[in-house]
Amino acid sequence: MAIEIIGTGRAVPPRKVSNSDLSARLDTSDEWIRSHTGIGNRHIADDGTATSDLALEAAKNALAMAAGFTGDAQNTADRDLAAAEAAKSIDMIILGTATADFIGTPSTACIVQHKLGAEKAGAMDITAGCTGFIYGLETAAGLLSLGRGRKRALVIGAEVLTRVLDWNDRGSCVLFGDGAGAVVAELTGAPAEGPQRRGLVRTILAADGSGGESLLFRRGGTRYPFKKGETIENGVCVEMNGQEVYNFAVKAVTDTAAALMQAESLTADDLAIIIPHQANARIVQAARRRLKIAEEKFYLNIEEYANTSAASIPIALDEMNRSGKLNRGDIIMTIGFGGGLTYGGNIIIW
Ligand code: ACO
Repeated sequence: MAIEIIGTGRAVPPRKVSNSDLSARLDTSDEWIRSHTGIGNRHIADDGTATSDLALEAAKNALAMAAGFTGDAQNTADRDLAAAEAAKSIDMIILGTATADFIGTPSTACIVQHKLGAEKAGAMDITAGCTGFIYGLETAAGLLSLGRGRKRALVIGAEVLTRVLDWNDRGSCVLFGDGAGAVVAELTGAPAEGPQRRGLVRTILAADGSGGESLLFRRGGTRYPFKKGETIENGVCVEMNGQEVYNFAVKAVTDTAAALMQAESLTADDLAIIIPHQANARIVQAARRRLKIAEEKFYLNIEEYANTSAASIPIALDEMNRSGKLNRGDIIMTIGFGGGLTYGGNIIIW
């Protein structure tokens, strides 16, 4: 039995904000942002759009694909019909996010479960920062593999990070964008071993909690509850030590790629594509040089979306899938890293 991805989807807000747009109101420039990060644009959710709204759209697109819908995935009635039918077959919804609709409860996954009408699905969020999708996919695979009758899971990465940024802090606000990506994972009869094996064949999940404070939402939890009058403007927002995260990330990407290749006896030539978390193109370049892997092996879309945290890998996967860049039998490596600190990766045979 194999865990195969049978549908992918994504959703990004229509409002696109370029580096030049930002430099009109902030002491920054297109040249600085591009040369330090590879970012050119980000998509920003309008007021009133929450993480679950983007997650729902991405999920519908993935579910409709799983149901065989091949039309235009933008809000069509036919897509919604196909998605609603497929939603009934989902046993579990797992949603990775650092920007849930609500702190604590209800989970964003439960909101999506209700809106999809996924009546038999359990639902929960995973807090693993930008590694949330990788953690979510492996958790889903574990649940499907237990032999307790669960066949299909919906795994989502979704964020509205732009709502928790200090827009006066040029060191962090230029880095992030909003979006969601989703996949439908199914337990199928395909072989999980041998030359014909398919699906999710290997995952590394790792953490280094000692670095937790280098990427932190300090306020609003039980450690530092909100105080009266606190707002994002006076410091209730994401805090990041860019240099520490950078150093951690380069090592995380390098170590995870090397460990996955070693565990599966693969060389870079065997890989069709590597989809890294899109946080900073320089992180990927530094890791790639250490690994001695050619630039073309890495899928990068950070220029368009900036860092969408848990959404970045499933958005990239869906872009590749929908543009026909993934072929049956392709070996895909994903690598994530982020808040926690967490990191890890998957090997997926398409
Ligand atoms: N525009 C113009 N100048 C800027 C900007 C900006 N947006 N941001 C910082 N600067 C300035 C600084 O003030 C500093 O000026 P100074 O020398 O006069 O003091 C100078 O640029 C250099 O700043 P550094 O912070 O040293 O720049 P660095 O080269 O380290 O790049 C960056 C900063 C891009 C944040 C880098 O450290 C980084 O990418 N870190 C990792 C961040 C990351 O990936 N976070 C998320 C990962 S986890 C997750 O995805 C949730």
